[in-house]
Amino acid sequence: MLRQMMYSSRARSETYETDLPEILRCSRRNNPEMGITGVLILVGEAPNITYIQAIEGEREHLDLLVDTISGDPRHTGLKILLDQEVEARAFAAWSMGGMVVPPSVADAGRIEAEVRDALCRFSGPSACTLISQIAKVAA
Ligand SMILES: Cc1cc2nc3c(=O)[nH]c(=O)nc-3n(C[C@H](O)[C@H](O)[C@H](O)COP(=O)(O)O)c2cc1C
Repeated sequence: MLRQMMYSSRARSETYETDLPEILRCSRRNNPEMGITGVLILVGEAPNITYIQAIEGEREHLDLLVDTISGDPRHTGLKILLDQEVEARAFAAWSMGGMVVPPSVADAGRIEAEVRDALCRFSGPSACTLISQIAKVAA
């Protein structure tokens, strides 16, 4: 069964600018082998940078990945926002999409709108639904 998870965490603020491209590179290398797709979003302004990541794939692959990710020193305070079974992927075409929400829009109401717009443009309506769900869970 296909599963979709979403979490937030706090980025290590001293190094997030170099961490993000490294994380994306490594995800794009590893995720196709495990059939994992998703998106990694960076929101905020130093020192308060948040990662929001959606990952989707088979249950056991996601368990392994979340285990690895939660021990990664490049972030702390991982909080699961959503964990559900789904019929189809929202990010089928992305081994790991990357997105930075600029500080100028990083205030409460606008982040969700910005992220949803961007995801709709790149990835279609099921991603929009997912983002609305996170907004509810995270509120
Ligand atoms: C916010 C965040 C998201 C990550 N997402 C992924 C991911 O989707 N796939 C992945 O393989 N590693 C991801 N990582 C990196 C893993 O924690 C770990 O460093 C990596 O899987 C090790 O891969 P390697 O053994 O090929 O070097 C992420 C790390 C962080 C901090």
